[in-house]
Amino acid sequence: MKTTSFTPFSRRNFIQTAVAAGVATFGSRAVPALADTPTTFTLADLPYAFDALEPHIDARTMEIHHGRHHNAYVNNMNSAAAGREELQGKSLCEIIADLTAVPEDIRTAVRNNGGGCVNHDLFWATMAPEGSTGEMSDALGSAIEDAFGNLESMQEQFNKAAATRFGSGWAWLIVNGDGKLQITSTPNQDNPKMKGFVPDDEYGAAILGIDVWEHAYYLHYQNRRADYIGAWWNVVNWDEVSALHAAAVAG
Ligand SMILES: [Fe+2]
Repeated sequence: MKTTSFTPFSRRNFIQTAVAAGVATFGSRAVPALADTPTTFTLADLPYAFDALEPHIDARTMEIHHGRHHNAYVNNMNSAAAGREELQGKSLCEIIADLTAVPEDIRTAVRNNGGGCVNHDLFWATMAPEGSTGEMSDALGSAIEDAFGNLESMQEQFNKAAATRFGSGWAWLIVNGDGKLQITSTPNQDNPKMKGFVPDDEYGAAILGIDVWEHAYYLHYQNRRADYIGAWWNVVNWDEVSALHAAAVAG
């Protein structure tokens, strides 16, 4: 099954995630109907069935992960954003990329829950059922060779970052400030686009990420995080990762 394209930090993502109660649709643009309309974020459906990623990720894990954990980030983000004019008309991607503009009293809640929303949107979009994972673009293949030598070396670095992230967090393949590919990891729900909240030399646009919170794998893999990471590569959506790479390089 072909997944829908996910383009973070774009108007399209705004339309996907910032569908608001009281927000009017004008052409392809969603605009606030009233200046004081509260921004409301919604949980998008998965682009595939809960059991579509089996046997690598089981249906029950997907159902709980999306319907409870991701949904909780959406609800908590809405609670934090309620009535806050500073967040009006902004997408989640725009908000988390400029956390210093978020009022201090809700900044931690937005960092954790807004980050959780953006990270999970990317996670779902960059997976696909085995056999429908597409192909890496020539541009992405060349970029991987330039940065890592070959795909296996990239995966080795990525797996190490994911396996050694202490506690809860993510490992990422990013396009950094120089337009080059780089492996990073973040704690909790931080995202590589959180300027000033991630190290300067780990700042960039994520084009692939793995959730290594226990809620992502514990039901099926228990404490065997490395087995989950290894299996996850079978469901990486290379069409989508290639599209995200092209968008990130284009700026
Ligand atoms: Fe998660």
